[in-house]
Amino acid sequence: MDRPIGMFDSGFGGLTVARAVIDLLPHEHLVYIGDTGRYPYGPRPQHEVRDFARQLAWSLVKEFDVKAIVVACNTASAAALDDLEAEMPVPVIDVVEPGAKALVRATRSGEVGVIGTVGTIGSGAYDRAVEATGAPVHLTSAACPGFVEFVERGQTSGEEVHILAERLLAPVKAAAVDSLLLGCTHYPYLARVIADVMGPDVTLVSSADETAFVARDELGAAGLLRASGGEAAEHRFLSSGDISWFADLGRRLLGPELRGATYWPHD
Ligand code: DGL
Repeated sequence: MDRPIGMFDSGFGGLTVARAVIDLLPHEHLVYIGDTGRYPYGPRPQHEVRDFARQLAWSLVKEFDVKAIVVACNTASAAALDDLEAEMPVPVIDVVEPGAKALVRATRSGEVGVIGTVGTIGSGAYDRAVEATGAPVHLTSAACPGFVEFVERGQTSGEEVHILAERLLAPVKAAAVDSLLLGCTHYPYLARVIADVMGPDVTLVSSADETAFVARDELGAAGLLRASGGEAAEHRFLSSGDISWFADLGRRLLGPELRGATYWPHD
């Protein structure tokens, strides 16, 4: 099945999921759209994020003929997953459920935390997803406005980020969580700062790897995986913002597969 897997995010964050998918499914073609022209999604009303998500998903289906869509953005998953699952003609894979499952698997004490954008945390999507696992855990949530902006500027370390992290992570520190889910796909790029603030006894859980496993399992079960041995996989990256910035920072964050970026939407 030669059709590509489609992915989208508000910007660079979904590249954490793209990295995991490329590593786990190296034969798959990929089309990634970073909606950097309209980022951040986190502070926007849910209905607006839902409209953006539907527009991106339909573009992936109609213009790129993708065989599945990975919503590589927690804010968009929280706002639009139900609509996308109902209306898309291809399988839709989100990051919230895989992340919640990985979180409850990781904990030893049952005190767990999740951090995300204002939109994600406010939506209650993680409260519902963690509850749906049925695991006997207690969840503390904290919104981290500002983290995404640092990543989009390429500033993933330094004193400023550290000071902000100290302040924003205070509620999950106070709750003595032993496992913390990075409930925004941008946050793995701040993992060292977050780990430094949380301390060595806290396990950080990222949904990127879990989502890639789900993608492999779902595509495999549907007979949609691309066979190995043909032409090398092609990875396309598009951005609705400055495409040279997307190519430069994107290559730094994702790696050599990101050779260039083109503009989305197409003319
Ligand atoms: N990467 C997105 C997420 O996982 C959000 C970023 C934003 O606020 O635009 O929620």
